[in-house]
Amino acid sequence: MNISDRQSIHGQWSSRWTFILAATGAAVGLGNIWKFPYLTGQNGGSAFVLIYVVCVATLGIPLMMAEILLGRRGRSTPIRTMQILAEETNTTQWWQIIGWSGTLAGMLILSYYSVIGGWTLAYIFKSAAGTFSGASGQLATDTFSIFIGSGTTLFFWHTAFMFLTMGVVAGGVQGGLEKAVQILMPTLFILLLLMVGYSMTTGFFGKGLTFLFTPDFSKISGTSMLSAMGQAFFSLSLGMGTIMIYGSYVPKDTSIASTSIIIALADTVVALLAGMAIFPIVFATNLEPGSGPGLIFQTLPVAFGNMTGGLAFGSLFFILLLVAAWTSSISLIEPLVTWLIENFGLTRIKAAIYSGVVTWLLGLGTVWSFNWWAGLTFFGLTFFDLLDFVTSNLMLPLGGILIALFAGWLMKAENTKAELRITNHTTYVIWRNLVRYIAPVAVFIVLLNAVGIL
Ligand code: PFF
Repeated sequence: MNISDRQSIHGQWSSRWTFILAATGAAVGLGNIWKFPYLTGQNGGSAFVLIYVVCVATLGIPLMMAEILLGRRGRSTPIRTMQILAEETNTTQWWQIIGWSGTLAGMLILSYYSVIGGWTLAYIFKSAAGTFSGASGQLATDTFSIFIGSGTTLFFWHTAFMFLTMGVVAGGVQGGLEKAVQILMPTLFILLLLMVGYSMTTGFFGKGLTFLFTPDFSKISGTSMLSAMGQAFFSLSLGMGTIMIYGSYVPKDTSIASTSIIIALADTVVALLAGMAIFPIVFATNLEPGSGPGLIFQTLPVAFGNMTGGLAFGSLFFILLLVAAWTSSISLIEPLVTWLIENFGLTRIKAAIYSGVVTWLLGLGTVWSFNWWAGLTFFGLTFFDLLDFVTSNLMLPLGGILIALFAGWLMKAENTKAELRITNHTTYVIWRNLVRYIAPVAVFIVLLNAVGIL
């Protein structure tokens, strides 16, 4: 049988739209609503946004195409897919490193993702209890400081979120959650629009927009470029095999190019909307834009506390954010769980328990990096900052380079062309040059620049 005619033993999406929804569900998460705004704030605003959007367009979309392409051709888990494709292209099995590093990155990311997922969970209850009614910026900031100052409280919520994630992973993803997401994600989108609407009434909307969209190139530095690129990989879930697994279920005749563009566009729009909702409130309440990971938890409650129906909207917003985080967290651990099942013959439940326990333990480092261990730094970074830096800014971009090199240089052009189903020759040539030259060179330059070599 022709290799491109095979199907994954794990199944196939029923249509192109199911795939788009599922991949968007995995891509849209805390990265868009929690991380994008605070990184933007820390890196001076508009210039960061601009580099981010350029990275999504020139690296994100071509690399997403490459990753889906490898997945659809390999039709297996990332490690096994790379093994199959290395055989097909007669190259060394070392390329499996893409699968290994991605599997490890997923676990490392989930360890801290779960901690922030826990914050979201806690904020559902705080909002519903009316903690924020009539809240000033000061009250929201104080509430947050007290909250993260308690190692025991964060321990509890991290544990709760991990239970939620592993519960679904153990039971299988299909069915309930996937169906629910089809309603909940559009609702999240509408609520974000509503928040932007609220921000328009703060009197600082213009200032927020200027901060986000009027580029100030003096603010660009090697590290801010690296953060913007890392965030593009993180937000689109690239460079770690998740998209490869999702790609392995893609029907044969789906256009990979247009699908990737839709996913990247949806992901970016959500991030930008989050920024537009948050920064006017930041300025209205005199909060510091660079105040870090607590940014949305210090700003959005002010909006909810002061708008009509805020109690309901606030609780609903954090519920939806929780769901968005949940769909992403499941995809983060899927490579490890499937690998344990394949290699050790474990049941899905056992594999979920083992991966869950290890990831949860690792997450404790992040939990306490916000309080008891806040003074403990490595190269000037807390445990959380270090994990985030190593995964988003190093492992994902490096994984991305390897994927680009493999798809661009090792696979035969006729195979990639057939797999991508691009009929227009010029479009194909553009893609091929992007993955062969531009993506690897650009990522490499940004990496060298950030460590001060270039
Ligand atoms: N893209 C997710 C977000 O923006 O929240 C995070 C993520 C999920 C990263 C899955 C990587 C991944 F494989």
